[in-house]
This record gives sequence, C-alpha cells and structure tokens, in this order.
Amino acid sequence: MPNPSETSLDIQFSVPFVHRLRVTDDVSRADFPQLLSVIEAGSGERAKVLLIAEHSLAEPTARIAKQLGQTHDIDLVHAPLVVDGGESVKNSSSTVELILQQINQLNLDRRSYVIAVGGGAMLDAVGYAAAIAHRGIRLIRLPTTTLAQADSGVGVKNAINYFEKKNWIGTFAVPWAVINDAALLDTLPDRDFRCGFSEAVKVSLLKSKTEFSWLCENADAIRERETVASKRAVHQSCLLHLKHITHGGDPFEMLEARPLDFGHWSAHRLEPLTKYQIRHGEAVAIGVAIDTIYSSMMFGFPEQDMRSVCQCLTRLGIKLWHEELTPTERLMQGLEEFRQHLGGRLTITMLRGVGDPIDIHEIDHATMRNAIEQLQQIQEEVATNHEPRVGTEG
Ligand SMILES: NC(=O)c1ccc[n+]([C@@H]2O[C@H](COP(=O)([O-])OP(=O)(O)OC[C@H]3O[C@@H](n4cnc5c(N)ncnc54)[C@H](O)[C@@H]3O)[C@@H](O)[C@H]2O)c1
Ligand SMILES: [Zn+2]
Repeated sequence: MPNPSETSLDIQFSVPFVHRLRVTDDVSRADFPQLLSVIEAGSGERAKVLLIAEHSLAEPTARIAKQLGQTHDIDLVHAPLVVDGGESVKNSSSTVELILQQINQLNLDRRSYVIAVGGGAMLDAVGYAAAIAHRGIRLIRLPTTTLAQADSGVGVKNAINYFEKKNWIGTFAVPWAVINDAALLDTLPDRDFRCGFSEAVKVSLLKSKTEFSWLCENADAIRERETVASKRAVHQSCLLHLKHITHGGDPFEMLEARPLDFGHWSAHRLEPLTKYQIRHGEAVAIGVAIDTIYSSMMFGFPEQDMRSVCQCLTRLGIKLWHEELTPTERLMQGLEEFRQHLGGRLTITMLRGVGDPIDIHEIDHATMRNAIEQLQQIQEEVATNHEPRVGTEG
C-alpha cells in the first residue's frame, strides 16, 4: 500500500468545447432568427439575456432588443446597456466594473447570456467581465469591425490593458457563439474598415498562399468597400483563425509559439508608444511589414513577396509608417515585453515563405533596426507608386 503522502498523480484530461459561428446579412432584421438559434432556454425557464452595445451601434441594438423583448422564451433583463467603444474602454477597469455590477444587480447566472455588440476593444472588455462573473457567463459576440469579424470575434481571449501594457489582465474563454453580420459594418468609418484587413493579410501569410494572392489581387476592391470582395476576405480570415483555434492543438496558448501573433511584438509596443492614437489593425500592418522584411533578410523570404506584402497593405489603404517607430530602440523594447508576457524564452514566428512560418528564439537587433529603416524607405516608394528598391545589407 503506497503512502498517500508519497503518491503523485499526473492525469491528463480534456474539456470539450463547441465554437458556434453564424454568418448573417442583417441580424437586426431578417436574420434575427439566427441569433435566437444560439440561445437555449433552460428546462421550463426563460433565458436571461443582457444586451450590451457600444454607442455607435445603438440603432441596430435597439432593433435586436425589441425582437428579444417580444420572444417568449427570452427574459431581456434590462434595456440595452450602452458603453464606450475603442481602445479607451480597455485602458481602465471602469467599464468592466460597470458590467459586473449590472450582472450582479440583474441576478444573471452561469446559464444567462451576455450579448455584446461592438468592436474588438469593447468585445475584449465585455468578454473579460463575462468571463470572470460567476467564473463565466455565456457570451455571444456580435463583432462590428472588420478586424473583429476577421479575427478577434472567434478568438478565445479577452483582456484589458494594465500598467500601460496591452492585454495585461485577461482570461482565456471560448465564446458561446459569434455572429458575423455584414450590416453591422455599414457605419464603420473607412479608416477602421480598412485596417482590419491587416489581420487577414497576417493569417494568409501564415497559412495560405492562395488566400494571400487573392488578397493582393482584390486589395483595391476591399479598400473601396466592395461588398463581395470584402465579405469574402473577412470570412476567409475568420475561417483561418477559427481553424487554427479549433484544430491547431493549442487554443489556450500553453506552448511557446503563438503564430497568430505574427507581427504583434512590435504592434503591441507601438500602440502604447502612440498613446493608442494608432489603431490595432494599423499597428499590426506595420508589425507584419517589419517582420516580413526581417524574414527576407534572415530566412530567405523571397524579396518579391516581401514587396507584395507592403504593396498589398498599402493598397488596402493602410499607412505603413508612424513617427514613433524611431528611435528604433524604444520599439525594440517590445521584444522583451513580448518575452515576459509569454514567459520562458523568446519565441517569435517569422516566415521562410508565404504559408511557411518558422519559430525563432533570437532576434538580431542590428538586422531588425535595419528592417525598420528599410520599411521607411519601402513604404514611401510603394505609396508613391514607384518600383520599390530594397537594400540587401544586413
Ligand atoms: N481577443 C483577441 O483575440 C484579439 C485579437 C485581435 C485584436 N484584439 C483587440 O481588438 C482591439 C481592436 O479592435 P478593433 O480593430 O475592432 O477596433 P476598436 O474596437 O477599437 O474599434 C475601432 C473604432 O471603431 C468604432 N466602431 C466599432 N464598430 C463600429 C461600427 N460598426 N460603426 C461605427 N463605429 C464603430 C469603435 O468605437 C472605435 O472607435 C484591440 O484592443 C486588440 O488588442 C483582440
Ligand atoms: Zn491582432
């Protein structure tokens, strides 16, 4: 008989999750039943629902609220809660506090639903509140930016910023459902509409040559908000992100590598450096361009493809430069922050080719500085439609 105090047990177990994605054209009108289809009432009970929206989405949210209020199985516990949108909502804990108070006062429980209508920043803050209340209330995300529909909406993370660092407080939590609705993008300003596609370019560079070529060919149509092209780009990006999360083997990022964070070590540093004046999507475009140039200098990423990446992002209408990129040393601190955030040794994904990522553990600082300087030159050339020239030193 072993002594109980000397027994050690290491038991692996897994928890089944379901990821529910619905793609609709107007969930506040004809496609409302799609939203209803993901809400399950308990046995003999009406499902409690709290609707939370950011200001710019007040109109479609009011229509959704009206229909929820008329649905027999649903107990809409309050009028829609309207909160701020944009990065500022993540820069303090006040919105999270407010939502927690409401969840408490309205007696929501673990079988209740929080439906959040907003951009990636607002969804991150609301998602965090929903994840920690009662250790997790069902969250239905209705993303309202191209970035959130193409990437973060189906993500399994939420967070707010803290200590002037991105996403410092947060949890992993699988949303109950995600509804990508085209009409919710109608009011999005061009700047926000365009920069969301940087995540589509990012994921295509990691996963799909075909998709990257398609994005290059359709960048002008997407920039001009042509419906068929932009809907397809959002959907393909969403599916590539979703596939990585559900089939990539590491949804909660326990391993060293975080491939979906390609280009993000500098993006996450640039955002606070610009006091969040730059959008996440814009910072990601710059980060992707920098790491693609670095990849061409260090890992044989073809120079022609590197130019295509910069051209594609520029044609999507995203600026590939910000004055806070220099002096480069301040940006480079992002490498250490990235390492600290992950723990353990630095692991960054770079590219040997389109669809051919490689994880590396060291950055050559001189070459990275060179890559950033190259970006300044290349983006000027691309922006003025000149054939870009690329230095080969480094
Ligand atoms: N959790 C994740 O997995 C994950 C992944 C990627 C990005 N993110 C986070 O997402 C955030 C960026 O999200 P984003 O790009 O959606 O930007 P955002 O949420 O900051 O929205 C951009 C702007 O558009 C406004 N807006 C949103 N929808 C609108 C609409 N339909 N009409 C008019 N205005 C609208 C917002 O109020 C804001 O001013 C960052 O904080 C980033 O860190 C999270
Ligand atoms: Zn991102």
